[in-house]
This record gives sequence, C-alpha cells and structure tokens, in this order.
Amino acid sequence: MAVIVIVGAQWGDEGKGKIVDVLTEKADGVARYQGGHNAGHTVVINNEKFILHIIPSGILHKGKACIIGNGVVVDPSSLIEEIDGLRKRGIEVGKNLFLSKNAHLIMPYHVAIEKEQERLKGSKKIGTTGKGIGPAYVDKIARTGIRAGDLLYPEIFREKLKTNLSGINHLLKAIYNASGFDADAIYREYMGYAEKLSEYIADTDIIINKMIDENKNILFEGAQGTLLDVDHGTYPYVTSSNAGAGGACTGLGVGPTKITRVIGVVKAYTTRVGEGPFPTEIKDSLGEKIREKGGEYGATTGRPRRCGWLDMVVLRHSIRINGLSGIVITKLDILDGLEKIKICTAYRYNGRLYEEFPKELNVFEKCEPVYEEVSGWKENTSGIKDFEKLPKTAQEYIKNIERILGVNVEIISSGQKRDELIMLKEPF
Ligand code: IMP
Repeated sequence: MAVIVIVGAQWGDEGKGKIVDVLTEKADGVARYQGGHNAGHTVVINNEKFILHIIPSGILHKGKACIIGNGVVVDPSSLIEEIDGLRKRGIEVGKNLFLSKNAHLIMPYHVAIEKEQERLKGSKKIGTTGKGIGPAYVDKIARTGIRAGDLLYPEIFREKLKTNLSGINHLLKAIYNASGFDADAIYREYMGYAEKLSEYIADTDIIINKMIDENKNILFEGAQGTLLDVDHGTYPYVTSSNAGAGGACTGLGVGPTKITRVIGVVKAYTTRVGEGPFPTEIKDSLGEKIREKGGEYGATTGRPRRCGWLDMVVLRHSIRINGLSGIVITKLDILDGLEKIKICTAYRYNGRLYEEFPKELNVFEKCEPVYEEVSGWKENTSGIKDFEKLPKTAQEYIKNIERILGVNVEIISSGQKRDELIMLKEPF
C-alpha cells in the first residue's frame, strides 16, 4: 500500500491532472486537499479533453473513490456544473464522490469582495482568478466561514448567513461603495444546491483513514503549485491555501506518518499566470513561441501564461519544502527544435550569488538568473515511451536536472495522452 502526494513544484499548471489520471489506474482513491475551482486540471483520453476544476482527476477512472477534502473551498454551483458536465459525457459520478462536511463554501459575497479588493490594489493587484478563493479562506481563518456540512442544516445555514451579511453588506457599501446581498435570495439559491449535493457530503477524514488502514493505494492531489503556497510561495503573489505537500495533512485530516511518498510535478520549462516576480521569464518572441506550442493558456480563465526557462532555485526550494522523493517531468516535447536551452542554476543580486530561494520579495523581484546553457535537440519527442529513444541531448537535459537537484526523475510525460509517457519507476 502507498499514500502518495502529487504536488506542483513550480507556479502551478505543471500537468498534474494527467499524472494523477495515469497513476489512478493503480490507486483505489484520489483526494484533493486544497484550493478551489481556481484550478484547472486537463486530461486527454482518446482525443477527448476533460478539464477538472475541483473534482479529483481520478474521477475519469471507474470505481475509484474521489474525495474533496476539508482543505478545499467549494463553489457549489461550479461543483454541480462539473458533476453534470461529466455525467453528460458518460462519466460515473455518484457513490464514488465524497465532499467533506468541513470544506468551506464560496459565497457570492466572496467573489464581490475579491473583485473590489483587486480593483483597489490597481497596479499592485495579485491577478487572481476572480473566483472568490481568497475571501473564502479569509472567512475560514476568521471563523466566520460556512461549511458544506451546514447545507444539511437549513436553520443553522440561514443563521450564519444572516450574521455574516450584516457585516459584509456594511463593508461593501461603506468601504467599496458596492451593492450588498439579499440573505433570502442566497439562502434559496444555496438550499437548491443542498438538494443536489447532500448525497456527497460526508466525514471524509474517516473515509480516507479507513482506506489507509485497509492498505489501499491513495493519491493526494495538490492544486496550483509550491510557489503559490500561502506560506512558502512568492507571497503576496500566491493563492490563499497551502498548495505544498504540507497542506495534504491538514486539508484531508491525515497524519504525516501515513504519507509514504511525495512526488513533485515539474514542467520542462516554467510558467506563471497572474502577477508577481518571475526571474527566468522569456520576454521575447521565444516566450510567445513556447506559449503557443505548449498551449499555455489558463484552463480556468483562458489567460495567457508567462513562459520562462527551468529554474533550479525554485525547484531546490520545492524539493525541501515538500520533501520530494522523486519528480515527474512534463511537456518535454514542447522544447523540441530549440538549438540551445537555458537552465537557471542560481540568482545574482547586489553582487551576491543566491543558490537558495530568497524569502524577501524585494530581493527576489530584483534577482538576475545565472544560466547554464545546454544543447537542445531537433527531433520530435512527442509520444516517445522509452528513455533510450529520446535524442541524446534530451536524455542529457533530464540527467542534468537530476544532477543539479539530486532527485530522481521517475516519469517523463511526452504528450497530452495517457500513454504518452516514459515510466522510469512505478510510483506504487
Ligand atoms: P487565486 O487563487 O484566484 O486567489 O489567485 C492567486 C494567484 O494564484 C494568481 O496569480 C493566480 O493566477 C494563481 N493561480 C490560482 N490558481 C491557479 C492555477 O490553477 N494555476 C496557476 N495559477 C493559479
């Protein structure tokens, strides 16, 4: 049995969806531990594209337990839309889906507050997905959140909503000069959601721990990436949850001693959506070329992703923070045809060399990347399933990554489809 955390090692969009989908074949269940429908996990099966926002990518396999943990923030209308969309396409969603009673709900006022906050920040805005994620987590920490379990108790739900709105409507009017919300209308809307979601609401911590006790194979699926983690990322340009592996314990109710391995998913280059410093960003036409070839547009918002070279300073930080026992390299084929490839091995700032990720944003945003330049390859690598069949320089690129980071590459993804990968070590 194994309990494996799959975590994004960069700024998200590393291709975790496909990896979780592939590994689900040997798993009994998949549990998502943080974030919300700000995430977009893309999986391609037989040329059919699925984008999952909150339901674990494991849902695309029959009969696997799919759990939305307490650490996730849930927009009920978006979850219902996702369930309906999957069902329409013939995917089973029923007794295989569980939603934690303790998962906090995203409310309409969270979206409104976020919009106003971003507007007021002007050029200092975070560039959020606009889904109400941050304000929902603020309410959770402030102990004013409404949880999925409250949907099962209409009177308690109504009471909490009324109390919250009395403060929030005042804030929206007085501070943001925006209109407030009607408690009855939200109550009716959410009771409609309750009817559709109550069958999934469960004590997910008990379900997961029972599966562990029964020696089942389980995947814990992270959303976003380590550099977007609210504690360990490029704060304040982060999301509002613990996207790193640490979030799996609190976000699911599982003790650290139960986790057997942590695998980091690393894109062969780097991307970032939204604002915030990005030392290896390629600002010329090559960045645009990579964006087009890699389809680097947000799966949730459609925003163009900023593209850059692989950054070892970021990855060293990720390995440490997550305790990575192995890595998966994705989208290697996007680098096909490049004559030279750059790998950032350190940063330079104010005459000092930084091999480790600087914690101060004011330093990080001024860091210049120090590059090692390696030869690229002309050949097409998409769909290759055997490491030895990769061009020699592509093999060296992978070995270079292992050498610099001191962590083994276990899987290389060479395309969007399930079978387009090189399995160097079976995780289960
Ligand atoms: P929020 O999560 O909507 O609050 O956005 C905060 C930051 O995280 C912004 O820079 C977003 O672009 C980024 N972000 C949120 N979700 C994702 C994701 O799934 N992939 C990549 N970036 C994300």
